[in-house]
Amino acid sequence: FQPKLLAGKRVVITAGPTSEKIDPVRVITNRSSGKMGYAVAQAAREAGAQVVLISGATALPAPYGVLRLNVESALDMHAAVMAEAAGADVFISVAAVADWRVVNASDNKLKKNASGQAPELEFAPNPDILAEVARMRAGPWCVGFAAETENLLEYAEAKRRRKGVPLLVGNLAQHAMNADTTELVLFDDAGHHALPRLPKIAAARQLIRAIAERLPRKHAA
Ligand code: C5P
Repeated sequence: FQPKLLAGKRVVITAGPTSEKIDPVRVITNRSSGKMGYAVAQAAREAGAQVVLISGATALPAPYGVLRLNVESALDMHAAVMAEAAGADVFISVAAVADWRVVNASDNKLKKNASGQAPELEFAPNPDILAEVARMRAGPWCVGFAAETENLLEYAEAKRRRKGVPLLVGNLAQHAMNADTTELVLFDDAGHHALPRLPKIAAARQLIRAIAERLPRKHAA
């Protein structure tokens, strides 16, 4: 039995990868199945929240009762989040946002040329959506995710401070990617707390509980 820890709360969640266009048939993307973000959306909905899931391309169905907004690029995701975040109580950023977009993307398919030369792509950094929402005045209470391949404790806590979020969830990418289980470590002002290896939906329910416990009074039920 899951008590309705987030009854009446508005929760915005990002999930999945973004994909950055090179030409009409090619993209650069991040590897993300969306499983963790979708599990968090399901758990938030089970906890009584009104959930908007802003999702890059995944093969997953929208969880029952969750409003899904589909996006492709990081700029699309940024626009959708900014439109939804102002009225939200909680923002949980699970998406694997591409750090760079291609600025010289082509409207027509790039052709292989006779000399076998590869095209020159130029990149520009994408906006950091989470850091921007965390800076909003009277914005939602923010939760970030960090997938690292090493030095999780050090990198994740540094990321929490850099992004300015009260709660950051770390995991080791090699254990979690495309898997149905994960081992999360929660980082907050008090330190860090490791959860055991769990199915993603069970880990998501524990995360929702941790968020509900930490929500400041004005957000609490
Ligand atoms: O990519 P990075 O490790 O910095 O991601 C950490 C957190 O920041 C994640 O929650 C991710 O969803 C978020 N992020 C974002 N916009 C970006 C890059 C990351 O919201 N451009």
